[in-house]
Amino acid sequence: MFSDTLQTYIAQIESALFALLPNEEGSDVCEAMRYSCAVGGKRIRPVLVLEACRLCGGDIALALPFACALEMIHTYSLIHDDLPCMDNDDLRRGQPSCHKKFGEATALLAGDALLTHAFCVCAESVLAKKHPETAIRAVALLSSLAGTSGMIGGQEIDLASEGKQISLQALREMDAKKTGALIKAACALGAVIAGASQEQTNALLLFAESLGQAFQVVDDILDVEGDTATLGKPVGSDAESNKSTYVSLLGLSAAKESAKALTEQAVGALSVFGEEAAFLRELSEKLCQRTY
Ligand code: IPE
Ligand code: IPE
Ligand code: MG
Ligand code: MG
Ligand code: MG
Repeated sequence: MFSDTLQTYIAQIESALFALLPNEEGSDVCEAMRYSCAVGGKRIRPVLVLEACRLCGGDIALALPFACALEMIHTYSLIHDDLPCMDNDDLRRGQPSCHKKFGEATALLAGDALLTHAFCVCAESVLAKKHPETAIRAVALLSSLAGTSGMIGGQEIDLASEGKQISLQALREMDAKKTGALIKAACALGAVIAGASQEQTNALLLFAESLGQAFQVVDDILDVEGDTATLGKPVGSDAESNKSTYVSLLGLSAAKESAKALTEQAVGALSVFGEEAAFLRELSEKLCQRTY
């Protein structure tokens, strides 16, 4: 049941995503955008958009372009994150990183173009035509959570924290921004598009906060304990760049405890939805136990 629903969501997302991506003849940038969005991504953020929308009684067809826009923004963040001036990683989603395959200049432009195109997709969506005010609210959310007070702000702290001993509070702030913000964007977009009640929105935001933290803690653990072939990205990257992570700060076993506690917290926030939240509960638990 859970995996059927997940597969159905992923199939819908991937077919819409590739239809929405530009495909200009002879453009390396377009090819690089499509390459980096290709199979291998877990599609967690767009799945969260669709499920949050469904859970709040919305029409997932209206949410689909926003889900794809978020996946484009996430993919851009990964292309830039892998660049030599950032994490300098050569493998992503089981393939050579964008800059390894296309060169740094094309990778930079492909990231920029994914970010730009994401907002074009939102503006041209059916939601924008039918309910322009809701679409504008969704775009405002997405841009602010992807920007300097969200994902970019977190990446800035991440780079500034290399080789330093930072406090647990600073680590939490970094993770809440660099990873939590786009996960929060996913849940918030679903809620806005569905016209969710305040109670539903608050519950989803609380859920997203804990899930986002748990997600980055597990990512940090996998960078130490994962297997490159399964993970599809290099293991040991954080240690090599002297990153501040949950594992570098607290050690592996405390990080594992923390991932579990944060997942329980996330699941707890879903209680207002009762049985209807079964999919999100199972998704949270699977993400805590993931190996990639
Ligand atoms: C990786 O995100 C970067 C982080 C924010 C931890 P994902 O683990 O969701 O990467 P994909 O989309 O599945 O490749
Ligand atoms: C990623 O953090 C955050 C963003 C891409 C915004 P990481 O640098 O840990 O992600 P991975 O491990 O390279 O996927
Ligand atoms: Mg990074
Ligand atoms: Mg990285
Ligand atoms: Mg990582």
